[in-house]
Amino acid sequence: MILGIETSCDETAAALVTTGGAICSNVVSSQADLHARYGGVVPEVASRRHLELIGPVVREALADAGATLDDVERVAVTQGPGLIGALLVGLATAKALAWSRGLPLAPVDHLRGHVASLYLEPDPLEPPFLCLLASGGHTLLLDVRGYDDEHVLGTTLDDAAGEAFDKGARLLGLGYPGGREIDRLAAEGDAGAYDFPVARVPGLDFSFSGLKTALLYATRDLPPEELGARRADLAASYQRAIVRALVERVREAANGMGATRVAVVGGVAANSELRAALPDAALAPLPLCTDNAAMIASAGRFVRALPYPSYLGLDAYASR
Ligand code: KG4
Ligand code: ZN
Repeated sequence: MILGIETSCDETAAALVTTGGAICSNVVSSQADLHARYGGVVPEVASRRHLELIGPVVREALADAGATLDDVERVAVTQGPGLIGALLVGLATAKALAWSRGLPLAPVDHLRGHVASLYLEPDPLEPPFLCLLASGGHTLLLDVRGYDDEHVLGTTLDDAAGEAFDKGARLLGLGYPGGREIDRLAAEGDAGAYDFPVARVPGLDFSFSGLKTALLYATRDLPPEELGARRADLAASYQRAIVRALVERVREAANGMGATRVAVVGGVAANSELRAALPDAALAPLPLCTDNAAMIASAGRFVRALPYPSYLGLDAYASR
């Protein structure tokens, strides 16, 4: 089995996955509640919390799988991109575990990890395919040609799609993280109530900052009781605009390259409207959309693992 470890943002996660891609355990301890009162992730707070949680989370992943470290043949860990202090907790833990058991260590890129959420049992996808990766930190259109071979076709020029959800939720007075809150509230609203603009930028890139400003203008002049009454309509219209922007780009890219298979991964892939708008796409399973370690262990299968002592010098990276 492969032990996966993920600590790039505010989820402390460990998982055990077989070399064939079956998930034996997948433990995610979210720190969202801890950061909610700040309206976003506080890096230093996240690092300290990872430090407290990583030991128990790894132990729980082993226990859930009915395994011990004797059953682990490789350790896979997120090396970046993400919060440096947070990443270093996972990386140091992975190095220590690998060293203590004489195991090789596979450094995993977090974004490849999200894509690798598609390679797990019971319904694994095989490259090539066109992939939309939409998370809190990234919005990418990827031409995935092989397990370790992808090309960036488009990216966001400003905010990531998940960031747009989170910032929109804050303007609407909803909790953090905001994507799920907007998703839930939008179901009760009228998506046609507000006509929010979908930015058109050249090529296959995305832009969400104008949309956020449009929501700001729509909300700031409303008296508090009015905002309460219009909140669901605002959420539904705002979500509609984000989903439309994503889906349009996916369609354009798919047509442009003649891609027959489209996949969607990352936290925003959990969005119910986005999922409904792309019925033929391969969608990451719901529990594997937001950050988790099963996807990291999955990606670790396709990475050249480093033997002792060469992995000791590995450093985390904040951006790609
Ligand atoms: O992949 P992820 O867990 O972390 C990053 O790598 O960034 O993505 C988190 C993002 C957050 O911005 C969150 O608001 C968004 O995914 N998200 C959603 C939903 N669930 C999570 N956005 C829209 N609808 C959802 N249901
Ligand atoms: Zn992520």
